[in-house]
Amino acid sequence: MTLPIVRSVADLRAVVAGWRKAGLSVALVPTMGALHEGHLSLVRLAKAKADRVIVTLFVNPTQFAPHEDFDTYPRSEETDVALLQEAKCDLLYAPTAAVMYGPGFATGISVSGVSEPLDGLARPHFFGGVATVVAKLLIQAGPDIAIFGEKDYQQLQVIKRMVVDLDLPVTILGAPTARAKDGLALSSRNAYLTPAQRKVAGQLNLVMAKAAEAVAKGGAISDAEAQGYAALLAEGFDRIDYFEFRDALDLRRLGPGPAEGEPRLFAAAWLGKTRLIDNG
Ligand code: PAF
Repeated sequence: MTLPIVRSVADLRAVVAGWRKAGLSVALVPTMGALHEGHLSLVRLAKAKADRVIVTLFVNPTQFAPHEDFDTYPRSEETDVALLQEAKCDLLYAPTAAVMYGPGFATGISVSGVSEPLDGLARPHFFGGVATVVAKLLIQAGPDIAIFGEKDYQQLQVIKRMVVDLDLPVTILGAPTARAKDGLALSSRNAYLTPAQRKVAGQLNLVMAKAAEAVAKGGAISDAEAQGYAALLAEGFDRIDYFEFRDALDLRRLGPGPAEGEPRLFAAAWLGKTRLIDNG
């Protein structure tokens, strides 16, 4: 069957209403397209959890700062459609910017706390844009569950907080990060990397694993962070936004001594104009 595509809220709601009438459950997988195996693993999980799966494709302008890569962000709808068809997705919702942000659009959702450290400091505009667009997608589609990758772990926590705070009737599920053979977390932005940068990129996960192991063995967090930071620069990363252990639940800073609670390591590092993030 050809993958049905809708581009308006009314058409989306008409399809979902038909499914609801038939008693079917619905899962939503929000994406910005340029789909890879990571996205497809989310679709597979969605298919296991619900009767019908909607993937959304919208490169959301409000989560990019003016100096960021909105214009060059990879766009490949034709390939995405073929991949989703193969994955047996039931519906693609690909609205235009005019559908998502109509004339006079003036509303934004701001989630404090978990959105403030890490990417909240490095990209201050980002989580407001994400929270607002995800709230809209959830309200437009009205799914039972929505699935997000743990690669964007802080984003997942922000969305969970927002859904609880706004009483949105949906269950948010996180899915494990899909990785290349050398451990690099899959990301649409990996397409920006030159072959030489791609080789260095594989070191991010290895350096993180070493730091996490040192802390798991009782080592001081401040030592593991300093060594990891230095190792990334030595491997050829150009700049590091953060390399920090934080509590997995509330993202509070841990350290400097041995870890208490549930430590999770977060890193963001640059190779040329490409910013890579990972956590684990
Ligand atoms: O993770 C992404 O691809 C985006 O931030 C999301 C959740 C689709 C919102 O635009």
